Amino acid sequence: MKNKDSYGHVRGESLFVDDVNVREGTLHAIVFDSPSAHGKIKNIDYSDAEKLDGVVRIFNYEAIPGENQIGGIFPDEPLFAENEVHFMGQPIALIVAKTLAIAKKAKQLIKIEIDALPVITTVKEAFEQGSFINGPRKFELDDVEKGFKESEHVFEGETFTNGQEHLYLETQGSYAIPLEHGTIKIFSSTQGPTAVQSTTAKVLGIPMHKIEVEVNRLGGAFGGKEDQATPWAVMTALAVYHLNKAVKLILERHDDVRMTGKRHPYESTFKIGLNKELKILAFEVDYYQNSGAAADLSPAIAERTLFHATNSYFVKNAKLTVHSCKTNLPPNTAFRGFGGPQGMFVIEAAIVKAAKALNVPVHKIQEANLLQENDVFPYGQIAKQVAIKKSWDAVKSTFNMAKKTQEIQDFNAKNQAFKKGLSLMPIAFGISFTNTPMNHARALVHIYNDGSVGISTGAVEMGQSVNTKMLQVAAMSFGLAPERVKIETTNTTRIANMSPTAASATADLNGKALLKACNSLKERMAPVIMEHLALTNSDKITYQDNFIFTNGTKSTLSWEALITATFLKRISLSEHAHYATPVIHFDKTIEKGHPFAYHVYGTALTTVTLDCIRGTYEFDAVEIVHDFGKTMNKGIDIGQVEGALVQGMGWMTMEEISYNEKGQLLSNSLSGYKVPDIFSVPKDVKVVPLETDGSEMAILKSKAVGEPPFMYGIGAYFAIQDAMAAFNPKYTYKFDAPMTPEKVLMGLYE
Ligand code: MOS
Repeated sequence: MKNKDSYGHVRGESLFVDDVNVREGTLHAIVFDSPSAHGKIKNIDYSDAEKLDGVVRIFNYEAIPGENQIGGIFPDEPLFAENEVHFMGQPIALIVAKTLAIAKKAKQLIKIEIDALPVITTVKEAFEQGSFINGPRKFELDDVEKGFKESEHVFEGETFTNGQEHLYLETQGSYAIPLEHGTIKIFSSTQGPTAVQSTTAKVLGIPMHKIEVEVNRLGGAFGGKEDQATPWAVMTALAVYHLNKAVKLILERHDDVRMTGKRHPYESTFKIGLNKELKILAFEVDYYQNSGAAADLSPAIAERTLFHATNSYFVKNAKLTVHSCKTNLPPNTAFRGFGGPQGMFVIEAAIVKAAKALNVPVHKIQEANLLQENDVFPYGQIAKQVAIKKSWDAVKSTFNMAKKTQEIQDFNAKNQAFKKGLSLMPIAFGISFTNTPMNHARALVHIYNDGSVGISTGAVEMGQSVNTKMLQVAAMSFGLAPERVKIETTNTTRIANMSPTAASATADLNGKALLKACNSLKERMAPVIMEHLALTNSDKITYQDNFIFTNGTKSTLSWEALITATFLKRISLSEHAHYATPVIHFDKTIEKGHPFAYHVYGTALTTVTLDCIRGTYEFDAVEIVHDFGKTMNKGIDIGQVEGALVQGMGWMTMEEISYNEKGQLLSNSLSGYKVPDIFSVPKDVKVVPLETDGSEMAILKSKAVGEPPFMYGIGAYFAIQDAMAAFNPKYTYKFDAPMTPEKVLMGLYE
C-alpha cells in the first residue's frame, strides 16, 4: 500500500500546525529569549515594548498560575527563566500582539541587563567543575579487570561525536484556542501529545481534562519534538488562559535552531582488550554526554548509550559508565537513535584502533565478535533470533565483497589523486522504550453503521508513515479496501495517557492495540455471522474482499450487511483496546533485565572515493542487508532505511554544530550548517531484506524500522578513513566525527 500522505504532500495540501484555520481575532506570539548563556538577570525593562500599539501583553514567569516547571524527567527546567539564565536562547517571556510584525518589533524594545557568570560549553570543563545533571550510570558484565589481564592486546583511545540539528521541515509551533468552561484546545506539532497536555496542566495549575491536544501530523521531528515541542504549546496555552483569545506561536527557523537542543555531543575514552583469536575479552568506556543546561531526556538517552555500547558484538567483560555533563548549551535532546549511535561509534572506533595496531583488516575483528544465539548483553538480556551473522554473510556474498576489495586495491594501486575505501557496519538495535512502564498504547475503533471505519491511536504521524501502517492493520483485519478506513487525528480526548511517538516502537505498540480492538469487534460479530449464515462452531470465519468467507469460501454476507445486522441487534460497533508489551522488564537497582521486545539487525557495506587533492569524497555505494522481519510495507520500510542512512551519514561526515566559548551557536543557518542534499547521497543505495521469520512481538511480524538504520551511517566515517590511509600510509586514525572535507584534507597531508 502506498503512503496515504504522499498525494497530499506532493500537492501541498497536507495540513500542519501553521495551516490550521485560525479564528477571527487570533493573536500572534513571539518568544523573548536570553542573549547570554549564563548569568543573573539584573533588570528587564518591558515598558517600551508594552507601550507599542498592538502589543496585547507580555507574559513572564510571574504570569504562571501553576508551576514554572517543564522538566520531563527531572524538575530542573523552568518554562520562563526567573532570576538566572542558563543558556543562550532560554525563553524569558512571551510577547503577544495583534500581528506577528508588531510582536517582533516589541521584542527589539525589551531591554535586559545580565550579570555574566562563567560559561561552560564542553564536557571537559563540566567534568572538571563537577557540573552534572545526575550521578553516573554504569552497566557491568563479569569482570573487566580480569578480562584485561587475560587479553593479549590492549588498546586505549578517545572519541568525539558532535551534535546534530534535527532540521525538521516544519519548525516548532503551537496554536491554542479557548473552548468553554476554562478548557483549552492546543494544536501542537509534538511527538508527545500527553506530555504537552500534562505539562500544560501543571504550569497552568488546572486538571488534565481541561486541556485537549490535537495533532494532525508533523513535518518531521526525528526526536526533536519528543520533549521540546512542549514549551511552545504551554506558552500559547498560558496566553489563552489569561486572554481568553486564540494565540499562535510558530518559531522562525533561526529562532528554532537557536533555542532548541540537538543530538548530544559525546566525548568518550575507551579501553579494549582482545585475545590472540581477536575476540574482545574486555571493553571499558567512560562516555561524557554534553547534556546542556537541563536534563530534558538526557538521562534516558545516556541509558540507551549503555544499552547499545557493544552494538552487535558479544563482549565477555564490560564496564560502561556514562556521565551526563551539565553545560550552558540549550538542553540537548532525543534524536533518532537516542544515544545509541553515540555508543555504537565508540566500539567501532575501538575495533578500528585495534585492527590498525595489529595490522589486520577491521572486518576480521568485527566478524570474530558478532553476536551469536544465546549470548548475553551487558544488561542481562539473552540474545534470541540473532540475525547479525546472517546479514553480515549476506552482505558479503550478495554484494561480492571479495571482488570489491580487490577492485579497490587495484584502483588504489593505479590512482594517486583518487583513493577508494570501504567499511562494513553491522548494527543491533533494541526495540522498546528502555523505561519499561512506557511500553503501552491504546486504539479506538468505530465502525459506522454504513460500514465505513474510523480509527484513532496514540501514534503520531511525522513522515514515517505510521498512519499508513495503522490503516493497513485495520483494513487487513476487516478484509476491507484501505479507502473504507479513515485514520483520525491523534487527540488526547480519544486516546489518553499516550507514550510519545518514539523509540521506533510506535507502529508495534499502537498497531497491536489496534489489532486487539479489531479482533474484539470481530469476536462480538461472530454470533451474528453464525446466525446469519447458519454456521457451526467448526466453521472457520475470515474477513476478506469486503465479504465474510467461511472455510475459505466467499459467503453471501457482505461487510455492509454484517454491520447493518449487528447494528440492528444493538451490539456496539465501537471498541477501545489497550496493549502493553509482554515479557519485558528491567531492574535499575542491578542494571539487569530483559528490556527489549526484540532486536533489529543488519549490515551495511559502504564504499567511497576520495578526491585527495581537495579532500572531498563521494560515496560510490551503500549496500545493506536489513532485518525487517516480515515487512508489512516494503516501500515504506525501505524508505525509512534510506532516509535514516543518509541522516546518519550526514551526522558522521558533514553536519558540524559549533558554539563559541560564550555559548553562542555559530552554525545557526543552513549556509553554515550543511546537511546532506541530493548531491551528497550515495550514488547507489541498495537495501535487501534479510530472510527471517520476523518477531511475534512486532506488529504483523514486521519489525520496527525508524531508528536502527540510522547507524549504518557510521560506516561512512570509517570508509573515508580507509581511503585516507590508502593515500597517506602515515595517517593515524582519528575518532573525531564528523569527518568533514577539511579534516580529510589535513589528514591526507599530515
Ligand atoms: Mo525518538 S529519538 O526515540 O524521539
